[in-house]
Amino acid sequence: MNDNNTLSAFLEAYTESGTARLHMPAHKGKPVTGCESLDITEIKGADYLYEAAGLIGESERRMSALYGTGRTIYSTEGSSICIKTMLGIIKSVCGKLRVLAGRNCHKAFIDGCALLDGEAVWVYPGMKSRSVCSSFITAQDIEKKLSVGEFDCVYITSPDYLGFMADIEGISKVCRKHGVPLLVDNAHGAYLRFTEPDMHPITLGADMCCDSAHKTLPCLTGTAMLHFSKSCPESFLSDAKRIMSVFGSTSPSYLLMNSLDKCSLMLSDGALIRRIRHTAERTALCKSRVSSYGFFPVGDEPMKITIDAALSGLTGNDLADKLREYGIEPEYSDPVYTVLMPSAMTTEDEFRLIEKAFSQIKAGGALTVDMPSPEPCERAVSIREAMFAPSEAVRVEDAEGRVCARTITGCQPAVPIAVSGELINENTVRLFNAYGINDIYVTK
Ligand SMILES: Cc1ncc(COP(=O)(O)O)c(C=O)c1O
Repeated sequence: MNDNNTLSAFLEAYTESGTARLHMPAHKGKPVTGCESLDITEIKGADYLYEAAGLIGESERRMSALYGTGRTIYSTEGSSICIKTMLGIIKSVCGKLRVLAGRNCHKAFIDGCALLDGEAVWVYPGMKSRSVCSSFITAQDIEKKLSVGEFDCVYITSPDYLGFMADIEGISKVCRKHGVPLLVDNAHGAYLRFTEPDMHPITLGADMCCDSAHKTLPCLTGTAMLHFSKSCPESFLSDAKRIMSVFGSTSPSYLLMNSLDKCSLMLSDGALIRRIRHTAERTALCKSRVSSYGFFPVGDEPMKITIDAALSGLTGNDLADKLREYGIEPEYSDPVYTVLMPSAMTTEDEFRLIEKAFSQIKAGGALTVDMPSPEPCERAVSIREAMFAPSEAVRVEDAEGRVCARTITGCQPAVPIAVSGELINENTVRLFNAYGINDIYVTK
């Protein structure tokens, strides 16, 4: 690999050259927060994200080879823009957008449906779920729906926010049988390509998937990738950049592209892959030690530690507070679960600190937490119509029978409790209460 011919090398050389920057951005590379010197715009030689033909294109091809994809493109606006791009591609190829989707989708999916006037038919948890984050969708659930309905694509979130993983291989076989493309929100699984075995959605048969690099690889916030499988129709790939640019800023961040470029180099030389594999093993050991102290790790993801705190007599929020007393900040907590996200950058000392904390926090008998399971709601109007309709705020206790205007999610994990256009029913109100939501917007 010629490291001198990379985006990162270009940015470093430009910084060292001391060139007078008579171009944007206005900080001119002078230190304000400390990262300015590498923060440039589309100057000569730097390539352009949405027409990548030089160094950025080269970096994307390197990443594509690492992931074994037909094509990989970079995003500097997270998986959020990749999700809208995947939906935009389906809309432009099919002329319409009827999606069979797991209900535990991220809000970016709903926003994409609103912008593209897409219609979502939901697959709900087949078993009782104590979180809006998890749907436990099976290949049989998808088979049943595809056998009776007409859809332009299937959309699955896996891994979900709690670290549960769907059977992407089985679901992709069903999709292939019905000739319907499979789109996967793999925001939490960029590293899954490099675990043993390889569990990346593209390897397992998805047609397109998005990976937030910043969630599980050593990359800056906002970095993501959109992958296309080798068997993906050419019509999906050919217009992908233009469609992404419809949703994106015309000033994509070179700091973020540099971060992706550096990551591709760290993966290429094998060092990062070794660290990912080591972290997956270390996380498994940590989980087994945590369970020996009376706690219950759940989920299948190899680099996430999700604890069902309620089974040990604490709410997830209480457990998170106790961990903070040890200097540990969790990713997420709710009345049931606490989520910790180690990565290849987590040190042995940090793993030991987690183990020490769990060895000292007192676990008790199971707590009864009344978490309603997400259930089907009647749709009154389309997502688009409701999201852009005049609306008013009402207290949750007065919302039953009204039409949800703004999709309602908890701040994290941004998974919808009620989706724009749905009639709010008794179960939705119970879910709002469980997630501490007091006021919502309904259509006037
Ligand atoms: C499941 C899931 N999908 C998509 C996203 C959006 O990713 P990003 O923050 O990279 O835009 C998130 C963010 O938390 C997420 O949890």
